[in-house]
Amino acid sequence: MAVSSLFRLTLSLCLLFISVSSAARFNELFHPYWAPDHFAIEGQTVNMKLDKSSGAGFSSKSKYMFGKVNIQIKLVEGDSAGTVTAFYMSSDGPKHHEFDFEFLGNTTGEPYLVQTNVYVNGVGNREQRLKLWFDPTKDFHSYSILWNRNLVVFMVDETPIRVHTNLEHKGIPFPKDQAMAVYSSIWNADDWATQGGRVKTDWTHGPFIASYRGFEIDGCECPTKIANSDNMRRCTSSGGWWDRPTLSGLNLHQSHQLMWVRANHMIYDYCTDTARFPTVPIECQHHRHH
Ligand SMILES: *[C@@H]1O[C@H](CO)[C@@H](O)[C@H](O)[C@H]1NC(C)=O
Repeated sequence: MAVSSLFRLTLSLCLLFISVSSAARFNELFHPYWAPDHFAIEGQTVNMKLDKSSGAGFSSKSKYMFGKVNIQIKLVEGDSAGTVTAFYMSSDGPKHHEFDFEFLGNTTGEPYLVQTNVYVNGVGNREQRLKLWFDPTKDFHSYSILWNRNLVVFMVDETPIRVHTNLEHKGIPFPKDQAMAVYSSIWNADDWATQGGRVKTDWTHGPFIASYRGFEIDGCECPTKIANSDNMRRCTSSGGWWDRPTLSGLNLHQSHQLMWVRANHMIYDYCTDTARFPTVPIECQHHRHH
């Protein structure tokens, strides 16, 4: 009896410790920057909601140069039409860089789409869209961005879905000179998100909840308090694990995975949208071998 209650006490302390440490990890790395009252922490999970009154968003407290960001997300269950949940990195200002995952909701049973985009010096227009090979509303899956001097890789459960390669030697600018913060948000985008904006958000099905856990940022941190140029020098000179030669490109297995994703799951690629870009964007001509 005594042993079993001691055991139970130990067990509950452990569970308590896990949940506290996960919330602590969120609080250590991130803070809500939009609608803090639309957040709820439930055990290991951070829930963020969209309702008629507001969306919500969190951002990292620090900025980073290079490294890997990984978050596990469970997207809005059931009817998510009209909603967009985004997970991205971005620097500031009109010439900012940005790496985006945008999850476009859908009516119950219809597939979520994942749109990725890359902004360089304030210019985006590099959308790709794919359907996932699983239902992202049933379980947590990991979404990550790996960033170094040679490439930006978007990954879903460690499978690369997109690579943006440094082609500076071809005269194409590559984002490697601005520290970036990490963000996630959920908002109403029913003017464009679902079936081109034809399906509107049904507020009677709200609130729309995206759930998060497993927050990981492993990069060169540039604390915003230190003068910017000092930061940049420290960050750009540091040879972190992300500078390892093996990470300057995909390995053979990853290249095969990316080919599989592109062949079987991609439904839109700006590189092949000749109506929109009569002249194929230069980086597409060079990215073609991926
Ligand atoms: C939603 O479902 C429809 C029908 O299956 C599909 O055509 C569309 O691509 C899906 N996603 C979005 C974001 O519209």
